[in-house]
Amino acid sequence: MENKTHLVDEITGHRRMRRNRKADWTRRLVQENRLTVDDLIWPIFVIPGTGIVEPIPAMPGVNRMTVDKAVEAAKEAADLGIPALATFPNIEMELRDETGSNSLEKNNLINLTTAAIKKAVPNIGVITDVALDPFTSHGHDGILRGNEIVNDETVEQVARAAVYQADAGADIIAPSEMMDGRIGAIRQALDAAGHQSVGIMSYATKFSSAFYGPYREAISTGGLLKGDKKTYYIDPANGTEAVRDATLDVEEGADMLMVKPGLPYLDICWRLKEAFGLPTFAYQVSGEYAMIKAAAANGWIDGEKVMLETLLAFKRAGCDGILTYFAVDVARHLAKK
Ligand code: PBG
Repeated sequence: MENKTHLVDEITGHRRMRRNRKADWTRRLVQENRLTVDDLIWPIFVIPGTGIVEPIPAMPGVNRMTVDKAVEAAKEAADLGIPALATFPNIEMELRDETGSNSLEKNNLINLTTAAIKKAVPNIGVITDVALDPFTSHGHDGILRGNEIVNDETVEQVARAAVYQADAGADIIAPSEMMDGRIGAIRQALDAAGHQSVGIMSYATKFSSAFYGPYREAISTGGLLKGDKKTYYIDPANGTEAVRDATLDVEEGADMLMVKPGLPYLDICWRLKEAFGLPTFAYQVSGEYAMIKAAAANGWIDGEKVMLETLLAFKRAGCDGILTYFAVDVARHLAKK
C-alpha cells in the first residue's frame, strides 16, 4: 500500500496516469504504436563483380554486395518477412560521366540487380531510385550544364531511366533527385510503356542535409561532389515549403511519400500524413544510422534499445514504414520476441 499524502491527492483527484503504466501487461494493453516487420524497407548497396561482400567503414554492419550476394540478402530479408528492398548501385568510376548516361543502359548494375532479385525472390518488393548521382562524374543528382543542375533535361532522363527500371522488374520507382515536375513525367512515361501498376514513392521532402555523409562513402560520390545540393534539395529550415513541395508530388500522381532524413524531420512526417493521408515513409539515413552505431560502439548508449526507440518514433509521427539500414537487425529482434 502506497503512502498517500493529502497534498497529492488534492491535486490529482481521481486522475493518476500511472495506473495504466503499473505493470508490463497494462503497458502492453495501452500501447498505441507498434513496430512490426511489415514496417521495414531495407536499403542495400550493390557493386559490380561476383562473390564480394565488403564493409562500409562509416556504416558498421552495412556492406556493399555483388549481385549474387544481393540475391542471397534478398532471400534472407524475405524469409524474415521484410516487405521490400531499396537498391543503390556503386558503379565503376569509368562509367560515370557528366550526364549520368549509364542510368539509360538497359543492363546497368541497378537493373541487373532488380532482374536477379525478382527472378530469385519474386515476393519481395524492389524499390529503385532514379536520381543520377550514382551515375554522374560530379556526384550531383541531375545533369550539370555549366554551373547549373538543369531541371527539365534531367526530368526527361530520369523518366526514361524509370521505364528501364520498371522493365527490369522494379515494383516502385522512388525518385530522389528533387527536380520539379518529375513525378508527373515519370507517371506518364511509365503508363506509356505499359507500367500502370508500377508505383511511385516520391522522396517528396528531401532536405539539404549533412546526414548523408556515410551514404556518399557507400556509393563513392563523396569525393566527387562539387559544391552542394542546395539548389534542388529543401532547406532544413523550411517546413511549409516541404508541405507545398509534397502537394505538387501528390497532384502529379505520387502513390506514396517519403521524408528524408528521418528523425530530425518527424514534424514533416506528421504534417504530410495529416495533409494527404497517403502512405508515408521516413528514410532513417546513413548519418542517423552511423550516429547510433558509433555511440553504441563506445558504450555510451544501448544500441539496440535506441534503434528500436527511433523506429517507434517514426510510427508515432504517423509513418507507415521506415527505410532503415537496421531492417535485418530489427526483423531478427522482432522474430525472437
Ligand atoms: C541521392 C541520395 C542520397 C541518399 C540516397 N540517395 C543523398 C545524397 O547523397 O545527397 C542518402 C541516403 C542515406 O544517407 O542513407 N540521390
